[in-house]
Amino acid sequence: MVVPPAPTHAQIPAGVVTLADHEACAQARLDANAWAYFSGGAADEITLRGNHSAWQQWQLHPRVLRNLSGGHTCTSLLGRKLAHPIFLAPVAYQCMAHPDGELATACAASAQEAGMVLSTQSSTLLETVAKAVTGDADRGPLWFQLYMTHDRGFTRELVQRAERAGFEALVVTVDAPVNGARDRERRAGFCLPPGVSAVNLAGLPPAPARALSQGQSALCDGLLHSAITWADIAWLLSQTRLPVLLKGVMHPDDALQAVQLGMAGLIVSNHGGRTLDTAPSSAAVLPRIRQAVGADLPLLVDGGIRRGTDVLKAVALGANAVLIGRPYIYGLANAGALGVAHVLRLLRDELEIAMALCGCSTLADVTSDCLFDGGPEFKPNFHQQSLRTHANKNYSHLQ
Ligand code: FNR
Ligand code: LAC
Repeated sequence: MVVPPAPTHAQIPAGVVTLADHEACAQARLDANAWAYFSGGAADEITLRGNHSAWQQWQLHPRVLRNLSGGHTCTSLLGRKLAHPIFLAPVAYQCMAHPDGELATACAASAQEAGMVLSTQSSTLLETVAKAVTGDADRGPLWFQLYMTHDRGFTRELVQRAERAGFEALVVTVDAPVNGARDRERRAGFCLPPGVSAVNLAGLPPAPARALSQGQSALCDGLLHSAITWADIAWLLSQTRLPVLLKGVMHPDDALQAVQLGMAGLIVSNHGGRTLDTAPSSAAVLPRIRQAVGADLPLLVDGGIRRGTDVLKAVALGANAVLIGRPYIYGLANAGALGVAHVLRLLRDELEIAMALCGCSTLADVTSDCLFDGGPEFKPNFHQQSLRTHANKNYSHLQ
């Protein structure tokens, strides 16, 4: 693949035909500071790598000779029709990848009819992003990702701003009360470049300083003293008319608690391997969460999705939709809005090809039957198991 210098007029660099190509190209374009931030994960990056490989470990079972005419990738979520099940995950500080930042991302999402979740730590004002796309007829849903801060008044105001601007749902991220141990960032001496900041948080009063007595933990008694709990989620639900989803749920018991509280949906995610290293992959826990919450709760998943086949597998394992994070940031770095749109187009096309080769004309046809040998853990084949047990018993009897 040739990596030309950044073009004056955006164009997709020659030879870039996959999300992995976008990644390699972006690595050559971004400076070491930005690359460490966007590409890195926590600690030894075991979960970061595991997210990707977990999708690859599933095999798909081809089906032939089915009638696929009239097929499509449409689905619906929270009362909204979607052209396809691919969302852009919230990623902070996008102006560090390209000067057009979140504005370019939103325009690309709109052009490709993808859902977009704007980060609280966006480097573009939420009102500016919403204004650019809310009038577009065919765009996908626009959601706001909320980091609830120690200051309830500020949080309420932020939620009201998102409501007024036209965001359609809130996504509360709950898996990052502290940053993970981001060794790659520390090695690179990561810092935000001049002109890039979390503009939506301007005016947030600093957390009240807490004097720590001897023996108290700077983390648990200091930083985490104001971290949110289930009670704050209940409070948030009382403050907004928007549907609220939780992002970063990985345990079935947490998923159940969220359902009992009345969440509109969940996002199964380990923050792209950026928080707790050695946490399981999101692909591995997705079927357990689906089993815990039942068939009807809107469930999304992210982490390591790089191919249309990964999207199909996520749906087969119980997701209604998926999100991608780093891949579209690489597209943004390579060619601004056009690069993000290209990443989405590639993934949509690959999904359609995978569906056709699995004999699925719609997403409703994508079930665990598409997965070769085994299917998801939540649906064991008891018949086969008992046959095996009986056969073994008979065999040992004959011995
Ligand atoms: C993130 N993610 C994230 N999540 C969130 O809720 N709010 C945020 O501001 C950010 N910021 C952020 C920055 C960067 C650089 C990355 C890579 C990720 C997590 C993101 O929404 C998503 O969960 C993961 O990126 C999904 O994994 P992949 O697709 O990047 O493998
Ligand atoms: C991150 C924060 C912003 O992952 O969520 O960098």
